[in-house]
This record gives sequence, C-alpha cells and structure tokens, in this order.
Amino acid sequence: MNDKLISTQYKQKAYDLANFDLTGSQSISWESPSNIALIKYWGKHDDQLPQNPSLSFNLKNSKTITNIIYQKKEPDESSIRYFFEDQRNVPFEKRIKNYFEKIAVYLPFLKKLDFTIYSKNTFPHSAGIGSSASSFSALAHSLCSIERELFHTLPGQDEFYRKASFLARLGSGSASRSIPGKAVLWGKTERVTESSDEYAVPIDEQVHHLFKSYRDAVLIIDSGQKTSSSSKGHMLMENHSFAKARYLQANINLEKMLLALKTGGEKLFAEIVESEAMTLHALMLSSNPAIFLIKPNTLAVIEKLKEFRRKQCLNFAFTLDAGPNVHILYPNKIQAIMVNFIENELLPFCENGKWIDDEISNGPKQIFS
Ligand code: DP6
Repeated sequence: MNDKLISTQYKQKAYDLANFDLTGSQSISWESPSNIALIKYWGKHDDQLPQNPSLSFNLKNSKTITNIIYQKKEPDESSIRYFFEDQRNVPFEKRIKNYFEKIAVYLPFLKKLDFTIYSKNTFPHSAGIGSSASSFSALAHSLCSIERELFHTLPGQDEFYRKASFLARLGSGSASRSIPGKAVLWGKTERVTESSDEYAVPIDEQVHHLFKSYRDAVLIIDSGQKTSSSSKGHMLMENHSFAKARYLQANINLEKMLLALKTGGEKLFAEIVESEAMTLHALMLSSNPAIFLIKPNTLAVIEKLKEFRRKQCLNFAFTLDAGPNVHILYPNKIQAIMVNFIENELLPFCENGKWIDDEISNGPKQIFS
C-alpha cells in the first residue's frame, strides 16, 4: 500500500460514514497502555508526521481506561462531556472537542453523536509517562469500535488497528504506537516493509522471546505537571542546530535496535536505549529556549544503576521519557534482584517512595462488561 494515500483513502471512504440508525444510547470501553520508546520520536512536521521512525514497548499496568456513552444528538445539545477520574475536566474536554473537530473529516458521524466520556489513568498524568499516548489510543480504539458498530466497517484486525493507530496519531504522535503488539514501530523505514509515517505497525515477529517478557520499573522521581509540553519540544526541533544529525542518528540507532531485538542482544539493546534517552534530554537542553525536565534525583538514580550494573554484571537498561522519571527495562529472570535493589537503594530518590512495577504487554484491549 502507498502509505501517502491512507489519509486520502480514509477521507474518500468517509462519505459512507455519515448516516446511520441508532436508537437509545450505547456504551463502549477500551483500555490502552502507555508505551515506552526505545527509539525516541522527537521532531515532527506537517500534520503529526514524524521526522524519524520510533519504536516502543507497550506497558501493562500504566494504562488509560475509557468508557464512551453515545447517542444520536439532539439539535443545540452540547456534544461532548468529558470526565477525568470522575470529575468533569474542562481543559481536557476542550482538547477532545478540538480533536473530534479535526478527525471528523475521517469520521463524519462524530458530528451527529452526543458523547459522555469517562476516562481514568492508573498512573500520574502529565508527568511524562505517556498519558497522552494511552488516552488518545483508548479514545481512537473506542471510536473505531463505534464506527464498526454503526457501519459494520473495519472487519479485519489489521484494518481496525491501522485506523485506530492513524486516528490516535492525530491526537498525539506517540499514541499511534499504543496498538496491539509488544514492540511497535511508527515511521517509514526501509528495514520494515509495512512501516508508515501515518500509522504504526507491530513488529513482534522480529523480536527475540527474551525481550517479550521484559519488565519496566518506573521510578517516580516527580509526578508534578510538566513545565513544558511535548508539542512545544517537537516545535523547537524545527530550528534546532542538531536536528539533521539527530534524525540521521535515530535511523542508525533504529537499525542497530532491530538487530538487538532480533538476536536477543541485551548489551546492544541497553547501549541504544540509553543513548536515545540521553540524546532526547540533550536535545531538550540545547533547544532555544532550553527545556529542563530532569531533576537531581534522576541523575542520582542513573549513577546508582550504572554502579550496580558494573558490580553485579547484570543486563538492564534505563531510559527517560519527556520527564524526570526513570524507567528500568530488565529481563524477567532478574526481577527479584532488581526489586530488591529498587526497594533498598532507589526508593529514597523517588517521590514518596513511589514506583510502578510494570511489564511489557500486548497492548490495548476492548473491555466487555
Ligand atoms: C519524548 O507523542 O507526547 O515521549 O505528538 O505532540 O503529542 P505529540 O507528542 P508526544 O511526544 C512524545 C515524545 C517522547 C518520545 C516518544 O514517546 O517517542
């Protein structure tokens, strides 16, 4: 498929997605995990298209659960009410309204429905743990389910998840990667034939079983609201002196990462994961204006982890998202050792001793009540 055409194809098919019969109200629920990027997406162009391919693992316990109640809309009625953690949330509601406006060109039925959306996270939001990824993914999967219910479209799994990824991307780039699959790639690369800038694809078949049972310990260094949004950070890449070199490096790192994932090369995996995290924050720090998201405790934890790894000769990797919290990616077989180390040595660096004991999962799931 020509990936340039998928948005055009969806627009053309949208004419068939405007008129429907619906009596009473219906409900749909999805849960979607956050994902942790191994190769980072930092820099975008046009309408949410990435400057380089990125690759992530889906998490399991860090997720958004979204329930949508929808019915045919009466004239003059407000069409979206958004509740976050059971409270009406006006800033989020505004963002969702804008999002629905934007994607109505692909899903014209949105304008003829009244929505009540309940959403909750199992982890602190706006702290750089990819809450926009899980939220927009849960929303996009729910909207594809509504499309399927109303029009009997998207019958095949691939078709369904491709559209969910495409729609999620338009809400938040990293959300495109929260689709079924343990390892998911977003962005065109010659290395993966079916890859696209417009949606993400699972690459589990190219991943060694060792990585499929990897765990992720998320150390909450600071759960406070971020001082700078990811969108602003992406924008600052437009005139960044290192932009060209970064996009080249990301492609080289992706190639090495695909090799590490395929062969079970844990050392190479750690080398690339850590280089990507450091590069991400180096790019932020060298933006104009600079973005400081790491905290002293972020660096203290990294120092401790490096020392522990050297002494114990263990294989694990640390990474950071757009925030101060540290993710430790490690194989299942050393879980007891890692948990012991975290609880005895690292908790003093965490906010209220908080950490999330997470693991790699298969991604979003529809919830049937
Ligand atoms: C640092 O997906 O949050 O987490 O597309 O503007 O919503 P928008 O940005 P977002 O960027 C996340 C960037 C990152 C790295 C990554 O997840 O790849």
